[in-house]
Order: sequence, then structure tokens, then C-alpha cells
Amino acid sequence: MTIQWFPGHMAKARREVTEKLKLIDIVFELVDARIPASSRNPMIDEIIQHKPRLILLNKADMADAAKTKQWLDYYASQGNKAIAINAHEGTGLTKITSASKELLKEKFDRMKAKGIKPRAIRAMIVGIPNVGKSTLINRLAKKNIAKTGNMPGVTKAQQWIKVGKELELLDTPGILWPKFEDQEVGLKLALTGAIKDTLLNLHDISLYAIRFLEKQYPDRLQKRYGINEIPEEIVELFDQIGTFRGCLTSGAMVDYDKTAELVVREVRSEKMGPLTFEVPQDIQAEE
Ligand code: G4P
Repeated sequence: MTIQWFPGHMAKARREVTEKLKLIDIVFELVDARIPASSRNPMIDEIIQHKPRLILLNKADMADAAKTKQWLDYYASQGNKAIAINAHEGTGLTKITSASKELLKEKFDRMKAKGIKPRAIRAMIVGIPNVGKSTLINRLAKKNIAKTGNMPGVTKAQQWIKVGKELELLDTPGILWPKFEDQEVGLKLALTGAIKDTLLNLHDISLYAIRFLEKQYPDRLQKRYGINEIPEEIVELFDQIGTFRGCLTSGAMVDYDKTAELVVREVRSEKMGPLTFEVPQDIQAEE
């Protein structure tokens, strides 16, 4: 689903998340492990304020494991707790409850000291479109389909999904907008499929993908497209890819539209193997 975000939609999305924050103990901020910084909502810190947060790097199966480790270390160094997961397969999900308990230990200890009866931790998933929010909710719900029913005092029929005995999850995620201003962020969102029917030019996206592969994963680029030595001229590189993969016009010339589309499709669909498009140093450099 591609959502067009207008100021009104953004205000509404923000309001909805802010309302739900009152119901929960912890936010699960879902991002794409391939672009952990670019797949964040730009105002997330301002929106969730001091509410405890667990960062979930989803689609870890599609990301470069060594770079995911760098991200996890980076978050830890910033005092943030993060976990790599694969909502599709259900990998890493058991850590969610234990990490939440750890983050909320003080709060729950205080409640206990005041004589408040122990209860499950209440959480909500928040993230930009296509990071896997529904997939994760379904995954968690499937294991324990029982819902706890409506909460008293909540106007809308807000459903809670029981995840084991110790965690309850709001059944609707908070959907927030992606970053728009930065063109490179837009290209990364398009390349990972976060923006599907993109308004960005397919040639720009494929060019970005090729340049990225050339720099970060040249061996995979060479292997996939039968390239012995990567030429300096990008047109030549496109020519070699198009020729090798038979992306040709009826006159046997390289069809650049087809070639661009092929490259983007293959990067998106894991044909190039697990890829990560940004590392913490990029963010630190920007800062
Ligand atoms: P959203 O609610 O945040 O908008 O995202 P959603 O769950 O709809 O997931 C977006 C796409 O990402 C889906 O693929 C989903 O299957 C895929 N996905 C979610 N989590 C993971 C993961 O951990 N690993 C991988 N590899 N993929 C994941 P789709 O092609 O849009 O739909 P479908 O093919 O699943 O029908």
C-alpha cells in the first residue's frame, strides 16, 4: 500500500500514536534492518518522548549480518536497546518479551512496591509503511491468538493481543510517515520496497543501486552480471549488464529501461544476497 502523506494525514497519524501512548508501557519501534536510519519516522523521538522504546530491526534476513551487528552495537552505545528480528519467519521474537521486561524493570518494581498487582507489559508497534508491522503483529498473534478483549475506559474498541503471559500488544500499529526531504533516503526507501509505486525515476534508483553495489559489494555485482572488470563509465556498466541479461530492444540494442528495472527488482528481491544500505558511521558523519 502506498500512502500519500499530506500535512493533515501526518497530524492525524501523530495524534493517533500520541493517544495510544497513554495505554502502553513501551513502544516497539519497527525499522528495516537494511536502512535502520532511513526507515525511521523523522519525528519519532519527539512523538514518543520519554516512553521506553525497544528498536526492532526487522527483515534481518535480508540485511548484511555484519552490518546489523554494527547497528546493534551502535544503539547499545547510545543507550538504546535494539533487537534484530525476522517477522516473516518469526526469528528473534522471543527476545522481545525479555528485552521489554529488562527495560521496564524499574517501573514494574515500583508498581510492586506500591502494592499494585502484577500485570502484563503493554506495548504498541510503531513504524513507517512496509517495515513489517502487520507481519509482526500476525506472527505474534498466531502463537497466542487469544485476545484479552477491550480495555475498560478506552473509547475505541482497542483490542489487545496476548503474547505469552507477560506481554500484551495493541492489535493496530501506529503508522507514521517516512522522511521526505532527503533524496538519498528516498532512493533507499524505494530500493528496499518501502515506497512501492515510487514517483522517483527508475533510472535514478537503478543508478544508485549500481553505484552502491560497485562500492560496497563489487564481487556480487560482477558475479551476478558476468562482469570481469567493472568499467569506469556507468553507461558501459549498464551495457554489460543489459547484454549479459538479454535486456535488449528489437534492434538488439541495450534497453536501458529494462536493464534499470531488472537491477532494481533484483536488489529488492534478495537476488544479490543480503544487503545493508547504510551503517552507523554514515549517520554519525551527517551529525
Ligand atoms: P507494514 O504493516 O509495516 O506496512 O508492513 P507489512 O507487514 O505489510 O510487510 C511489508 C512487506 O514486508 C510484506 O511483503 C511482508 O511479507 C514483508 N516482510 C515483513 N517482515 C519481513 C521479514 O522479517 N523478512 C522479510 N524477508 N520480509 C518481511 P509483501 O511483498 O508486501 O507482501 P507478501 O509478499 O508478504 O504478501
